[in-house]
Amino acid sequence: MRPLLLLAILICFHCVLRKGFCSSEQDKVLSITAVTQEQVILLQNISSHNETTLWQPASPSYITENTPVHLFVQSSSVTRVTELLNTHRFSFSVLLENTQQLIQEQTRNITTDPKSGGMTYERYHSLEDIYYLINKTSQEHPDMTKLILIGSSFEKNPLYLLKLSGRRGPVDKAMWMDCGIHAREWISPAFCLWFIKYAVIFYKENPDITAMLDKMDIYILPVMNPDGYKYTWTTNRMWRKNRSVREGTSCVGVDLNRNFDANWCTAGASSNPCSDIYCGQYPESEPEVQAVTKFLRAHKDSIKLYFSMHSYSQMLLFPYSYTHDQIPNHSELFDLVKEAAVKIRRHYKNVYHFGSGAKTIYLAPGGSDDWAYDQGILYSFTFELQDRGRYGFLLPPNLISVACNEALAAVKIISMRVLEKL
Ligand code: ARG
Ligand code: ZN
Repeated sequence: MRPLLLLAILICFHCVLRKGFCSSEQDKVLSITAVTQEQVILLQNISSHNETTLWQPASPSYITENTPVHLFVQSSSVTRVTELLNTHRFSFSVLLENTQQLIQEQTRNITTDPKSGGMTYERYHSLEDIYYLINKTSQEHPDMTKLILIGSSFEKNPLYLLKLSGRRGPVDKAMWMDCGIHAREWISPAFCLWFIKYAVIFYKENPDITAMLDKMDIYILPVMNPDGYKYTWTTNRMWRKNRSVREGTSCVGVDLNRNFDANWCTAGASSNPCSDIYCGQYPESEPEVQAVTKFLRAHKDSIKLYFSMHSYSQMLLFPYSYTHDQIPNHSELFDLVKEAAVKIRRHYKNVYHFGSGAKTIYLAPGGSDDWAYDQGILYSFTFELQDRGRYGFLLPPNLISVACNEALAAVKIISMRVLEKL
């Protein structure tokens, strides 16, 4: 009897440690499709409640008929929500039921010590580790890199830019890439780190990266939203916005990709501070956005190419997102993203959708890509990286390399084509 009792205690202890793994109620991600207008409204209500977090689309207001909605539901609400869905005859399935386990696997201490070497880029890194890594890279490659502080976040975390250049004299062209505007999209900062590593290793080895670095300076902002990113590591993995607070509301955060001065806070953004697509009190109200726009304004004559990395849904987008109107060079950018998508399909057997933001996903004003475009950066893109449809924001670390390699292929082909035009 005694060993059995011990075993029972151990299992129980294990369950408590792993946050209720042994009970049937775990946090879940459901895929739900509304087919009637009545169901759309119901689903908007369900997804507005605190115990749930919308993964896709970004806000209840974007929910429409016949498009699957990905909804994260806290363990304590799973029964209530599924009963509600059954009562109203929704068709739904469970997309993920091991979210706690996935989160643990992505944040384990033993795998995140950046000093332990090996496989550094096939895992996610905490904010401190990212600062450490870019600092280390800049020290190891002083002839190709420069660390530039462009400002700080609401919570006074530094916004570091890494400038990459070939071993050559000054040039007059540049490219910009930011990652981590949205806190929970972890593959995005992972991609910026991946790109940096690739660039320093393959300069003078790979012809594309050599041409890019010889002809342009490349400015990379690995984490545009450090406060939010930190918060996803410590408190809430599903957080999207930054962490700014304001008077008159207890709700925290502004959607930085709704805070740029590009048809600010019109349809597709929200003036409600509690919304995940809250536009802020005025355009560029957020220090993170101010830092980026200040730098881009100061360098807009040299910067010819703008990339903003997001996840998930596998899309290559270009302006506009704030209007359905077409940009003057629509067909040019369309051909570029199409070629990139074809390359990804051929080499990686993966399908990326492409087109203007408003037509391909939804109207979303106040975005960085549209703002950059209207500043005169005529090759402006937003990428939505993997997952391939199963893990959403919780893309497991062993899939980071495929996700990054295909995105890298797209960045390279577009950059090469643009360099040929300039
Ligand atoms: N999923 C991104 C967002 O909601 C889409 C970005 C597309 N560009 C844009 N300017 N909205 O922010
Ligand atoms: Zn995003």
